[in-house]
Amino acid sequence: MTPAARQRTLLAVIAALLLVIAGMAYKFIVAGSVVAAPDGRRTIVLADGERAFVLAEMRGFVVGLQKLTDALARDDMKAAAAAASSMGMAAAHDVPGTLVAKLPLEFKTMGFGVHREFDAIALDAQSLGDPKHTLKQLAATLAQCVACHATYQFALAPGR
Ligand code: HEC
Repeated sequence: MTPAARQRTLLAVIAALLLVIAGMAYKFIVAGSVVAAPDGRRTIVLADGERAFVLAEMRGFVVGLQKLTDALARDDMKAAAAAASSMGMAAAHDVPGTLVAKLPLEFKTMGFGVHREFDAIALDAQSLGDPKHTLKQLAATLAQCVACHATYQFALAPGR
């Protein structure tokens, strides 16, 4: 092989490797592990423990929402801020890497967006102390729960 031919081969190998890396990055960051659901939603296929992990986080939202609405009904803005921040970014830590790779980018964006909004709700509840304002923010955030549930569902991988 001439030096020029060897260089061309090397460049072709590098290009192929870059394509493989780009493909993997797309799969892990953007696409996730998604199939079409019969009801028109998109099904994210997860392992048993991963599904349990996300559903537990979802039920955590309901716990927080109960506390938040209870606090708002009592005009207790300190408790409202605490309830909102229990659903903030701090609640989103420790998501296993294998799970992150299976979640499509849109799902992660919406999910983290909701956590961030609860942090903003907590800050405003603390600084403004206006229950009506907090309720308005909450309604907007709940629309994100609705939007995601209308788009995605989970299924267990076969032979898990
Ligand atoms: C990024 C997407 C997304 C967001 C945002 C989201 N969810 Fe979910 N949630 C899901 C999916 C997917 C499921 C599983 C539904 C299925 O498989 O049919 C689920 C399931 C649940 C469940 C059922 C839990 C169980 O144990 O079965 C509850 C309750 C829930 N979500 C509440 C909420 C609330 C409240 C919010 C907003 C504060 C929220 N979710 C935001 C995607 C989301």
